Formats: sequence, C-alpha cells, structure tokens
Amino acid sequence: MKKAALHIDKYFITGDIDERIYGSFIEHLGRAVYGGIYQPESPQADKNGLRQDVIELIKKLNVPVVRYPGGNFVSGYHWEDGVGPKDKRPEKIDLAWNVIETNQFGLNEFMDWARAAHTSPMMAVNLGTRGVEDAKNIVEYCNLKGGSYYSNLRRSHGYEAPHNIKLWCLGNEMDGPWQMGHKNAVEYGRIAAEAGRIMKMVDPDIELVACGSSGLQMDTFGSWEDTVLSECYDQADYLSLHQYYGNYDNNTADFLANTVAMDKFISSVISICDSVKAKKRKSKNINLSFDEWNVWYHSAEQDKQLERWCKAPHQLEDIYNFEDALLVAGMMITMLRHADRVKIACLAQLVNVIAPIMTSDTGAWMQTIYHPFALISNFGRGHVLHTITDAPVYESSHGDAPYLDAVCIRNEEQDTLTIFAVNKALDDDMELTCDLRQFADYAVTEHIVLTHEDLKAINTEENPDNVAPVRAAKSAQIEGGQMTAHLCSKSFHVIQLGKC
Ligand code: AHR
Repeated sequence: MKKAALHIDKYFITGDIDERIYGSFIEHLGRAVYGGIYQPESPQADKNGLRQDVIELIKKLNVPVVRYPGGNFVSGYHWEDGVGPKDKRPEKIDLAWNVIETNQFGLNEFMDWARAAHTSPMMAVNLGTRGVEDAKNIVEYCNLKGGSYYSNLRRSHGYEAPHNIKLWCLGNEMDGPWQMGHKNAVEYGRIAAEAGRIMKMVDPDIELVACGSSGLQMDTFGSWEDTVLSECYDQADYLSLHQYYGNYDNNTADFLANTVAMDKFISSVISICDSVKAKKRKSKNINLSFDEWNVWYHSAEQDKQLERWCKAPHQLEDIYNFEDALLVAGMMITMLRHADRVKIACLAQLVNVIAPIMTSDTGAWMQTIYHPFALISNFGRGHVLHTITDAPVYESSHGDAPYLDAVCIRNEEQDTLTIFAVNKALDDDMELTCDLRQFADYAVTEHIVLTHEDLKAINTEENPDNVAPVRAAKSAQIEGGQMTAHLCSKSFHVIQLGKC
C-alpha cells in the first residue's frame, strides 16, 4: 500500500477557477459537425437539424465555452460561405483535411446550436489565407447592432440581434508548417497585432487569444512565444497552448507521467509571458488559454487510408480506453493547479473527432474520457487551494513522476471542499491523508470513483457503461480532523466534503 498526503490551508488560495477552463472545441472536421452536432436527416434532430441526443450529453458535461470553427480548418475558411440562404452556399475543398466542405452549417447555425447546448462561442478568425480586413468584417457581422454593411447582412440573414461574441482566437497554430498561411513568429506577431487592434476598434469589449506553440515539441517553442508576444502584447489577452499525448509504446506508467510534462509546459509559458511583461514594463498579465488538449493517437494509422475529397468522413475517431480517462483526469488536475493563470482550456474536441461523445445514425454515447471531464467540470467550481502533494514518485521519461495527481477545490458559496485525485500506481492501492482541522464540522458527502481492472477497456454503443463512475462505499472518513481515503490502484476519485 502506497501512502500519500495532501497539505492545504484554506487561506492559501492559488486562484479562482474561471469556468471557461471547462471549455471544448468543435471544428469543421470529420463528423464533428456533419453527423455529429448537425444531422437534419436524423430522427434525433430538431427542425433545425441539431441533434438533441448530443445536446443532452453536452449539457451534462457543463461546457461553458466552445471554440469554433477550427483548428486547421479555419486557416483556409471563408466564413461568408456559411451564412445566408443554404441553397446558395458553395461547396469548397478544405485543404486542412482534404475533404469537401458543404457549408450547410456555418456561423449562425453554430450560434443557434451554442444557445441550445447552454454554451458560448470562442470564435476563431482566419489569419492563414486571410487577414486583417476579414477579421474586421466578421466582428462587424457578429457584434454590431446594424447600420453597416456586415451588420445589416447578418440582419438580412434573419439574425436581428447581434451575436455579441466576446472571445476570439487570432488564427490557429500559425507556428505549424502544416498550417495554411504558416508564418514565422515576427510575421504572425505583426498580423495578430494589427488584426487584434482593428477587431478591438470594432468592438472594444472583446478578448483575444494569440497563438502560442502547437506543442512543447515544436523546435520554435519558447522563441515563438517570446517574439509573438513582443509584437502583440498590447492587443492579446491570452496566449494559447496546444498539446496531445499518446501511449505509442504501450507503457502506461510513462503515459500517465505526461502530467509532469504538461505542468512544465504551463510553467514555461507563464515564465515567458512574464518575461515579456517585465521587458516591456507592462502591468497587464497575459493569461493562458490551453485551447487544445487531449489524448490523440489511436486513429492515426487509420486516417492515413482516407481518400481525398469526401464529405464528413470518419476522421480522427479515437476510441478511448480507461487509461486515457485517467490521463484526462490528470491533465485537468494539472491545469487546475495553475488556475491563477490558465483561464481558458478546450478539450479537443467534443463530438466524434477525438471526442468524449460519439454518434451513430442510431444513437449517441459517452466515451471513457467523458466521465472525468463531466465530474471535474461539475464538481470543480470555486477556487483552487494551493495543494501540496506528498507522494512517492517513479522514474519516467519526463523525470520523477508522483504516483498521485491531486488538487483541492473550495466552494465557499456551497461550503464544500472537493478533492480530485488520481492514483497512478498500476498494482498498488494508496492511503491518502489530509489534515482537515480547519474544516472541523465537515464530513465526507460524496466519494465517486472511476476505475476498471482492464486499462484498455472501452465504451461502445452496445456497451456504453463498461467504464463509468460509481459511488465508493465508506472509502473515505474523517477522524480527529484527519481525512483518510482509500484509493484503489489505477483510479480517479472525487471526494467531496461539506457540512453534514
Ligand atoms: O484538433 C485537431 C487538430 O489538431 C486541429 O485542427 C489543429 O489545430 C491541431 O493540430
């Protein structure tokens, strides 16, 4: 049995949780839109073609913000193709994913969908094949009341009231050589500054996310962030981070140790933001938008076989297993531990494409990774307490990795304290203790556990609850002001404490 302890103090607060840390992402890619959230021919669809079974699953995830329409797709996108009468919309080639885009779903349909799914938009502009003028036009179309060409155009499309989109991405992964209109850091920093300046002239209340690196593995990581921010510090509010992990060598311990790499990535980006701040003698902080994160590798080989120029193919359809769910829990815990600076994060993506939700023509179901996301999103509101984890470590390719990933969340309104914890030990249970004398009148009110004996277990349409959370019976108690919880090997736990 491994032994670990958490040390917290109710006055030592890391930061408030910005609910947008529980965001997600819908790209025009594969079956995310067509056959995912939008499928007019489905018996599950409403009169606008929006799949209601999918919306119900999304509502339970409690996702406050959804990034749209890309991703790589946005870097070749003409948003005007996807507005106005549907029979006039052009079918175009999408060079990001080598498919045909029908444009039957576009900006206005997305806004209708977002309202129905109880979420809000994080809209990306094309700074790949387009630029400053297009960025101005789309903000005018979305956010001005009327009385100008683009705002009147929106009204003529049946949307009298402005969409009032407050959060915008200045392009996508512009450091990536695969990106249409790929730029070096100075080129991108300049266009981000100018597009951002003009977008804020149209609507001064918007917030902007500049592109950071497409991952820690990029050769330009570090210098990219430094140069880009040096160019657009005044216009940007957030800098993006993207990272996907895979268990390529079938080494689960090493795969779960990726939280160490993610933690270093976040700390490094914060350091660079603050270094540019210091060099420029600014008072404003640049916060972080981790707007693409997930496990992504299962579908890589299969996707190489895809034929070009089809419509809505099965693309990037990773089937997630139980160990993926453990890492997803660990990644969310890692971001929460930086809640003072990570203000936005988007699980990439939401439906069918590297997603927690899958659909067929007959139904929709939850993949394994749905569960840690839903639990943390629903229980993880309030502020993060600075959580010191005292746990044994193991060697990994990322350095020493603790067997425990954990964070404590305090919700003063509800008078609760919630612990999220992953026991990464594959063959060993763990006894977790925490001194709770500051919470003298608290008792354990919930203990939910996600575990499975088979690390490779998956959920399918036929067997959707194979990997699902359950209530743990009497595995956490408080005695003499100390909580003791039993964490079985390879498991994720939500332990909520409150007044009895
Ligand atoms: O999420 C899938 C793709 O991953 C996105 O389009 C791109 O931004 C990233 O490389």
